Amino acid sequence: MSATILTNREHPYLAVVAINRPAKLNALNEETIHALHGTLKSLEKDDSVRVIVLTGMGEKAFVAGADIAEFMNFSMDEGKELARKGQEMVFDFIENFPKPVIAAINGFALGGGLELAMACHFRYASENAKMGLPEVSLGLIPGYGGTQRLPQLIGKGLAMELIMSGNMMTAGAALSCGLVNKVVTQENLLPSILTVASKIASNSSSAITAAIKAVNAGFDFEKNGYDTEIKSFGACFGTGDFVEGTSAFLNKRKPKF
Ligand code: COA
Repeated sequence: MSATILTNREHPYLAVVAINRPAKLNALNEETIHALHGTLKSLEKDDSVRVIVLTGMGEKAFVAGADIAEFMNFSMDEGKELARKGQEMVFDFIENFPKPVIAAINGFALGGGLELAMACHFRYASENAKMGLPEVSLGLIPGYGGTQRLPQLIGKGLAMELIMSGNMMTAGAALSCGLVNKVVTQENLLPSILTVASKIASNSSSAITAAIKAVNAGFDFEKNGYDTEIKSFGACFGTGDFVEGTSAFLNKRKPKF
C-alpha cells in the first residue's frame, strides 16, 4: 500500500488509518484518494477489524484540503470528474461503510479535509483543531459533499455562513454546534477515541452495520428511513449476534460477538 496512507493495527479490532503527507498538511492528491480507497476496501474485508479511526500524520493538520497544486490547471470537465470520482471512491464510500469510521481531527480540517471528517460517522477533535470550508476564497465551492453534509450536521443558516465566509471555526465552536462530539487535548485525542472505539467494537457488528444503513437512509431523498429501519430491524432477528446478545442478557452474562 502507498506510503501516503499508514495503517496501525496494534489495538485489537481497531485500525487507525492516517493520511501521511505532513509536509503538505496532508492535502488530498489523487494518489492519496486512491490509496485511501484501497486501504478502506481491504479493511472492509478484514474480519479482524471492527472500527476504523481516520486521522492525519503530524501535529498540525488532519487534512488541509484537496491538493490545490494538482487541480489548479483543470478544465471544467476535469473539475467535475475530480469531484465525482472523489465522492464515489472516498466520501460516499466512507459514509456508507459497513463498519464505523470515526474522524480524529488533530489540527486543520479545511475544505476536503472537513468534508472527509464529515463523511465519517462521527468526529472528535483536539483543542488546536480549526475547521472550515474556504473553497470560495479560491473561486470554488466544496466538491466532496460539503454543501450537503455541513447543513445536515449544523443546520442550513450556520452552514451557509461558513461556506460563504470561508471562516475557520475553533474546536470549541465546532463542539457547540454539534460538528464534533468531543474536544480533548491533542495528546488525549487518540486515547479517547480508542476508548469509545473499543466500546463500539464490543457490540454486535451486524447490528451496527444495520444501524448505519438505517440512519443514512433518513438523509437520502430516494429512500424512506423509517422503512429501512423496519426492514433492517427485522433482518437483525435472523443473525447469530441477535441470538447471542439476547441469550447472554437472559443468562446474565456478557455477550461474545
Ligand atoms: N493543497 C496543496 N498544498 C497545501 C494545501 C492544499 N490544500 N494546504 C497546505 N499546503 C502546503 C503548502 O503549499 C505548503 O507547502 P510548501 O511548504 O511546499 O510551500 C505546506 O503545505 C505548508 O502549508 P503553509 O501554508 O505553509 O502552512 P501555514 O501554517 O502557513 O498555513 C493553512 C496553514 C492550513 C492555513 C494553509 O496551508 C492553507 O490555507 N491551506 C489551504 C487550505 C484550503 O484552501 N483548503 C481547501 C482546498 S480546496
